[in-house]
Amino acid sequence: MFSKRVASIELSGIRKIFDMAQGDAINLGLGEPDFQPPPEALEAIREAVEKGYNKYGPSKGFPQLREALAEKFTKYADISADNVLVTVGATEGMLATLLSVINPGDEVLYPDPGFVLYKPHTIISGGKPVDYPILQENDFVPSQEDLENRITKKTKAIIVNYPNNPTGGVLDDSHLKMIVDLAEDNDLLIISDEVYFNITYENKPKTFLGKYEKVIFINSFSKEFAMTGWRLGYLIAPKEYIEQIGKIHYYTVACPQSPIEYAALVALEKSHYYSLMMVEKFRKRRDLIYELLNKMDGVNPNLPKGAFYIFPRIELDADPMDIVKDTVKNGVLCTPGEAFGTAGKKHIRFSYAASEDDIIKGMKIFDSVLDKYR
Ligand SMILES: Cc1ncc(COP(=O)(O)O)c(C=O)c1O
Repeated sequence: MFSKRVASIELSGIRKIFDMAQGDAINLGLGEPDFQPPPEALEAIREAVEKGYNKYGPSKGFPQLREALAEKFTKYADISADNVLVTVGATEGMLATLLSVINPGDEVLYPDPGFVLYKPHTIISGGKPVDYPILQENDFVPSQEDLENRITKKTKAIIVNYPNNPTGGVLDDSHLKMIVDLAEDNDLLIISDEVYFNITYENKPKTFLGKYEKVIFINSFSKEFAMTGWRLGYLIAPKEYIEQIGKIHYYTVACPQSPIEYAALVALEKSHYYSLMMVEKFRKRRDLIYELLNKMDGVNPNLPKGAFYIFPRIELDADPMDIVKDTVKNGVLCTPGEAFGTAGKKHIRFSYAASEDDIIKGMKIFDSVLDKYR
């Protein structure tokens, strides 16, 4: 009755766990900022609707928005509006990319633990997903050896995601060079999911953009401007890729949402202060949750350097999945590391896109749940 394609992918198991939560649970499971979009953007979306931006727009996005995005990233690469495709979130950008570059049997390297899209998107595109570990002992960055061991004649692309979900890891210049060199030597496409590009705490963001010819840079308005529900993202890539990916994009979504594009352009022009404000709030919360987790027996966190997640290893003789279920039953949402791949099995992901109050209360409950397993 259904296609082999759809039968070969599964919905993530996280839902079942979240369904166990009571209505007033403390939410440290969310993958989105706990802020509303910037006030200028809220005003702009009302204005857009009233002005009549309720119709189909250009398939690749409003020219002014594509230009503004090219301008924003021009310090990293020699790009223009022709290199930009506005998408329905990074999610559509990722799938349209893979559908445009993967032939049956092509292998795609993706991180384990890693965000939940990469494997199913590769399968839907007819490719073979090949995971590579990003481990806590290596600051959640892949080792050269692990990557080399997985590259075959069939490897077409490597998906990278820094700042990283679920680990909070970031890359430094030497990691970036190592991955670019491997891609160059093996003629691989780098598909770089940089939706947390602006959320770093120690150093300025590092990007693959402009570091190598065959880079598809995927980004989004979701996290930078707290617009997850507005579903707007973008790709930056060589023009010939934009043309081809733009075909899949056209036949799946026709065009991005006109009023959202209008408001996103206003956010780009006026709301930089807002994302800086969020990052400063996240930084305080990161320090707080790290300190609280670090004090707990049997819990070993790394200090996150980007995004808004912390991914401690549970060093107890217990299955973190059971601990998560208990924690959720006790009113605190968090996510089992195995939802992000087998290498995440000993971990739990907490999102600190939550108030300091909730973080303090949530960590207290988590610590008392752990007592049962100590
Ligand atoms: C690493 C990563 N990539 C992509 C996405 C999806 O972004 P968008 O809302 O733009 O589709 C998320 C959302 O959580 C994410 O964490």
